[in-house]
Amino acid sequence: MKQKLLKILEQFKNKNILVIGDIMLDKYIWGDVSRISPEAPVQVVHVQKETYAPGGASNVASNVAALNGKSFMVGIAGNDEAKRTLLNELKGMGINTEGIFTDNDKPTTQKVRIVGKSQQLLRVDYEKKEHVHKDIEESLMNFLKKIIADIDVVVISDYAKGVITPAICDFLVQISKKHSKAVIVDPKPKHLNLYSNVTLITPNNSEAGEMADIEDGSESAVLETGNKLLKYLNTNVLITRGEKGMSLFEMGGKITHIPAKAREVYSLIGAGDTVVATLALALASGAALEEAAVLANIAAGIKVGKIGTASVSIEELKKGIEEL
Ligand SMILES: Nc1ncnc2c1ncn2[C@@H]1O[C@H](COP(=O)(O)OP(=O)(O)OP(=O)(O)O)[C@@H](O)[C@H]1O
Ligand SMILES: [Mg+2]
Repeated sequence: MKQKLLKILEQFKNKNILVIGDIMLDKYIWGDVSRISPEAPVQVVHVQKETYAPGGASNVASNVAALNGKSFMVGIAGNDEAKRTLLNELKGMGINTEGIFTDNDKPTTQKVRIVGKSQQLLRVDYEKKEHVHKDIEESLMNFLKKIIADIDVVVISDYAKGVITPAICDFLVQISKKHSKAVIVDPKPKHLNLYSNVTLITPNNSEAGEMADIEDGSESAVLETGNKLLKYLNTNVLITRGEKGMSLFEMGGKITHIPAKAREVYSLIGAGDTVVATLALALASGAALEEAAVLANIAAGIKVGKIGTASVSIEELKKGIEEL
């Protein structure tokens, strides 16, 4: 297994992954807090620095880039400063941004965290969740049509903030089928009915429960949930189960439980994005579903053990496999 996984990893380089979904800018304002405002009973943050990171679907694209893949980011942004910052961040990682269209009626989705003395004091969100307009939908589809032949695997990273519409999903499933490309979906439960006939969906435990209408978290409930989703959507299902690892339900009927690697956990944020990015590159590199899931589980284990927000690098993943 180890040799096989290392072989697959060698193929990650320059695989073309199209990531479509709701892109966001994560902004952090870091400062010192030493006094209360004379204007209102609130703390005053004296700003020391501002940092930015791609969030939402664009975090999947940056995970792909950190693993040596080539990402093509498709989505929308507002006509604002946040868009320019986000595009700069993405371009700096070598991510193709030609598929990011501007919607003049929405702000770029942005989450601003104000951190005083390393404690988050406040989060400020900018977003408008309505579906994109028909003309933008059309621009997105034209771009997808133009690029699909050069893509190895498609990832839909859905945060239900407007990009993943029924028309876009139908179109993606159709053209991906026509060009024999796998489609992986990191789903939003309320969009359940959009995901029929994709290759693989990757809900976490609670999303899967909500989608299958089985909320009980027991071991037998996981089996029922996975099987029900597989049949209902006609797709392979990978349920990510936090510290319990993952369970893969394949269309052929095979079920595989992959235990999480026990390790010290620093941050659970973004493990799901690491999972889809690794799955996409592994499938693009010819891995079987089970091999892709094993690799994604190793990558996610490394991610949760990392301090800070950095993505898992190809070197870290290689080391993770060698230590198996
Ligand atoms: N405590 C943990 N210990 C080891 N591995 C973990 C732990 N938590 C998560 N993982 C790994 O990360 C994977 C994804 O985690 P999880 O199921 O929490 O996804 P998620 O809820 O979609 O994450 P996100 O919040 O990023 O969307 C798991 O399948 C597992 O491989
Ligand atoms: Mg998730």
